Amino acid sequence: MKTEQKRIITYGTFDMFHIGHLNLLKRLKSMADTVIVAVSTDAFNLEKNKKTIIPFEQRIKIVKSVKYVDMVIPEESWEQKTSDIKEYDIDIFAIGRDWEGKFDFLKDYCRVVYLERTKGISSTEIKKSLKSLLSIPQEDLRKAFDILEILRKDLQ
Ligand code: CTP
Repeated sequence: MKTEQKRIITYGTFDMFHIGHLNLLKRLKSMADTVIVAVSTDAFNLEKNKKTIIPFEQRIKIVKSVKYVDMVIPEESWEQKTSDIKEYDIDIFAIGRDWEGKFDFLKDYCRVVYLERTKGISSTEIKKSLKSLLSIPQEDLRKAFDILEILRKDLQ
């Protein structure tokens, strides 16, 4: 007897792809046979007031190459979710707990689940760490580069 094939969809920016993203995608694959990921375009991120470091063409390529992902599509608007669910015959809409309750209206079309986030990592936090480097005094940076140069020579 053939068991029913389940199809799951998620949406996200996936900037500076990290372990939280990977854990989420792995979890999705454990919940369904087909995993579809809608990756936010740069234009849509601007609309969301979200600045990305990695351009859309690279973010979507990276997500597509993850072995838990079967298909990628662009996320271009807030409204596309209902039509995507119908078009791709989706059984489950899944997204991280940071969106808890925000997509309950999709329950009219499929199951909606909010998944636990991986603790201690997010693209925003990585960006903040990078930004904090900008406040290091130039003199200290120069000293750090001098030390790195010495280490590099030692290792050759
Ligand atoms: N996600 C997760 N665990 C994390 C970070 C993200 O499970 N530590 C999930 C989000 O809940 C979302 C998906 O990964 O369902 C894509 O999230 P995205 O917003 O692109 O990643 P963040 O790192 O949360 O980025 P930002 O800080 O810009 O919101």
